[in-house]
Amino acid sequence: MNSLKILEESSLTMERVLPVAIEITDSERKMIKDAVDHLERKYETFENREFVMQVHQLASYFLPERLLKVLASFASDFSKDQYGALIFQGLFDIDQEKIGTTPANWQSADYSKFNQYGFACALLHGALPSKPVQYYSQRKGGGLIHAIIPDEKMRETQTGSGSATDLYVHTEDAFLKHQADFLSFMYIRNEEQVPSTLYSIRSHETIHEEYRPLFDPIFKIPKDANLQNEADEIDTLDAILYGNKELPFMRFDAAEQLFNPDIKQTDIAHHALSKFWQEAKDLIYSDFTPQSGDVIIVNNHLCAHGRSAFRAGVRNINGVEHSCERRIMLRMMSKVSLIDMRGHTLKEDPFFVIEEHLGKNFKDF
Ligand SMILES: [Fe+2]
Repeated sequence: MNSLKILEESSLTMERVLPVAIEITDSERKMIKDAVDHLERKYETFENREFVMQVHQLASYFLPERLLKVLASFASDFSKDQYGALIFQGLFDIDQEKIGTTPANWQSADYSKFNQYGFACALLHGALPSKPVQYYSQRKGGGLIHAIIPDEKMRETQTGSGSATDLYVHTEDAFLKHQADFLSFMYIRNEEQVPSTLYSIRSHETIHEEYRPLFDPIFKIPKDANLQNEADEIDTLDAILYGNKELPFMRFDAAEQLFNPDIKQTDIAHHALSKFWQEAKDLIYSDFTPQSGDVIIVNNHLCAHGRSAFRAGVRNINGVEHSCERRIMLRMMSKVSLIDMRGHTLKEDPFFVIEEHLGKNFKDF
């Protein structure tokens, strides 16, 4: 196991917690590929309900033992040493020719090309164990994986389709009570060499006294830039930190909770959030640049993610700009329990989440 843990320069004694990177061996990669080939023959698509229902057993049966151990301990380790992100380097060989030119946007992507990668990611979630689910709030459902592709028309937005501005760190769907527990980001291509951006609540040395108000339900938690906020939703309040008081979880979205011009937090709320962000922004980690076939697994309660601004389709080599294929990343989200969120899933499909905002469901269902 190759750990990226390093000594923090500003501190002589404190070791800063960092994501753990695991290099997949050739034999492990072959095991995963063979498993995916077999599962694809048997179930055709990773969306097949039989496959998704049995994904835990199938993961135990097919995944390399080392990965099973790492994933199991990751899922239940909320300690001070757990960053909340795992990097699997070279999990899967990506057939670049088969993918072809990057489509203009996620709407025009051919998902059949991502089928094998969907199986591989689902097995990782299965091993945690956690169940792949889809959210109506994200692209009206649309399946268990989302292709994140820079879209020229959306380049300035705070969404997965943006590129020209920094995407602020956020936990996914911070505006939902039943947000995903775990996320996977599989990099199909990253020719622009955009570093991943991660920020863990565990990077704070301590939860200062002045952060205490973050545990109180006094914060406006607006929806993200993909969605419209109704007046009643702006006024619904919740906490930013929750769970254990010393080793908390977080629902955090700097862009929406702190910098959305339509949102006015109370003075107490604004002060606590600003203080928190002042420290948090210097704890953001962006030293890892994912390569094709890498997968990052994130505990969405411990670790936020974002992205630096980049020029889609441009690769800089020694100061010279070259055109390249635009980036493609596949996101999958999962929940540990289908029971806990049953009030917010489709009557006929407990894997389909219809929560719109902090415990309120979309009216269409
Ligand atoms: Fe996100």
